[in-house]
Amino acid sequence: MTVSSAPGKVYLFGEHAVVYGEPAVPCAIERRASVTVEARDDDRLRVHAKDLSIDGFTVEYSSETNATPDVNVSESLVRAGVGYIDAAIEQSRDATDTPDAGFDITVESNIPLGAGLGSSAAVTVAAIDAATRELGVTLSSDEIADRAYKAELAVQDGEASRADTYCCATGGAVRVEGDDCRSIEAPDLPIVVGFDGGAGDTGKLVAGVRALRDEYDFAAETVESIGDIVRQGEQVLADGDLDELGKLMNFNHGLLEALGVSSRSLDNMVWAARDAGAMGAKLTGAGGGGCIVALDPTDDTKTALRFTPGCEDAFRAELDTEGVRVE
Ligand code: PMV
Repeated sequence: MTVSSAPGKVYLFGEHAVVYGEPAVPCAIERRASVTVEARDDDRLRVHAKDLSIDGFTVEYSSETNATPDVNVSESLVRAGVGYIDAAIEQSRDATDTPDAGFDITVESNIPLGAGLGSSAAVTVAAIDAATRELGVTLSSDEIADRAYKAELAVQDGEASRADTYCCATGGAVRVEGDDCRSIEAPDLPIVVGFDGGAGDTGKLVAGVRALRDEYDFAAETVESIGDIVRQGEQVLADGDLDELGKLMNFNHGLLEALGVSSRSLDNMVWAARDAGAMGAKLTGAGGGGCIVALDPTDDTKTALRFTPGCEDAFRAELDTEGVRVE
């Protein structure tokens, strides 16, 4: 039996624009998904997920037939729950040259699903690490990131950047621009996360931005402007100027709003954070619902968010310098 875990992440800057080759700066946070893998003596996959969006479910299916699991929940929920694991196992079989390997898999996560905190990347990365180790192969974190990216591409119909998967495989703050992925220095960041209890459909939101960008010049220019903010943000992060960092996060949120990926609850939480004195606040991830990230060293933003209509949970999130690890 092998257990691996990987952290979730917030985007300080650059989501969506990163899909079009602009840089992005995500950073890993101390909320982890853990995946337990035990090799079977047949080629079946048995997936047990305790804490995902569905209230505990177990599915069993054969890799040969690739049949839809026989469970009493909608297919899209099943797809969300096991699609990434399935793709991760395909990558692990490929990496270890064992196309018929079967596994019992248990997923536990305290990262809200589909909420912009990188839950799917964390599950995918941890699953690849655990499954390959279970078969006696240890991959480098760069290889795991690359395979997790390919798994995400397969599940998200070709629309994914390397940002999430690289960040959660490596840990800490990273900079991703196209295929160029690297770790960057970051000071201790007073990160506060607000969660509206909902989720956005990453594929749909990315497709929406693509359509807007094709139709309107302003949208293409907005994507480029986000890139400019990221380049400034990197410098400011290196200098440790948190007030300026917060200002740039506010600008980034405004531009994401213009691209149509914010929502009433995300905007409410962003404004509640700013009114409470946060240095800056923005949505994180694909948007449409889910989480915001704010910077505030005091408890004021967290307290204000807890009283904000539409906010279901608010918590402090420390930067996690450790990426994927075996437990
Ligand atoms: O919501 P998340 O954590 O899946 O982040 C999506 C980030 C996008 O830039 C919108 C897409 C991507 O793959 O980079």
